[in-house]
Amino acid sequence: MKEKTKQNVYNAFIGEAKAYFRLLAFAKKAQEEEVPQIALLFRAIAEAEKVHASRHLGLVKDLVVKDTDTNLMKSFKKEQSISENEYPDFIKDAQDEGEEAAALTFSQARDAESFHAKLYEKAIYDVIKDIVKEYHICTVCGYVTDRKLPDKCPICGAPPEKFKTIDEKDLD
Ligand SMILES: [Fe+2]
Ligand SMILES: [Fe+2]
Repeated sequence: MKEKTKQNVYNAFIGEAKAYFRLLAFAKKAQEEEVPQIALLFRAIAEAEKVHASRHLGLVKDLVVKDTDTNLMKSFKKEQSISENEYPDFIKDAQDEGEEAAALTFSQARDAESFHAKLYEKAIYDVIKDIVKEYHICTVCGYVTDRKLPDKCPICGAPPEKFKTIDEKDLD
């Protein structure tokens, strides 16, 4: 693909992916305001934007998606850098401005990202490619574990009901 188009497709992918989450939030708001039809409209269009994001990504896959070893290493480094650099800076700014809710969200995200990094590291350096086992994800803070479902989330304290399990059934 030619350079300009490639960049446009990539930007469109980012835009549509953001729109997906924004429209889900709009749908939730419409539900709170008790206008279910508008909630459904936002929900439906969110789904459509997800289709666009996915199609755009499909066109520039080579730009984003590499072989699994490369993807693992890239993801590991990203998690490491975000938990060691970006989030600590965000936490400091939030604390300086007295924004406690943001400081908490950032610090739980930082902790969760460092667990993500450990899981990637394990995948890179241990041989786990021949094993298929489930992961549990805290839907409150994003903590992920490959061990048994915890009694409560070690980062945010959420109970087991707040965990989502990803297993073989979730693979296409
Ligand atoms: Fe992460
Ligand atoms: Fe959590």
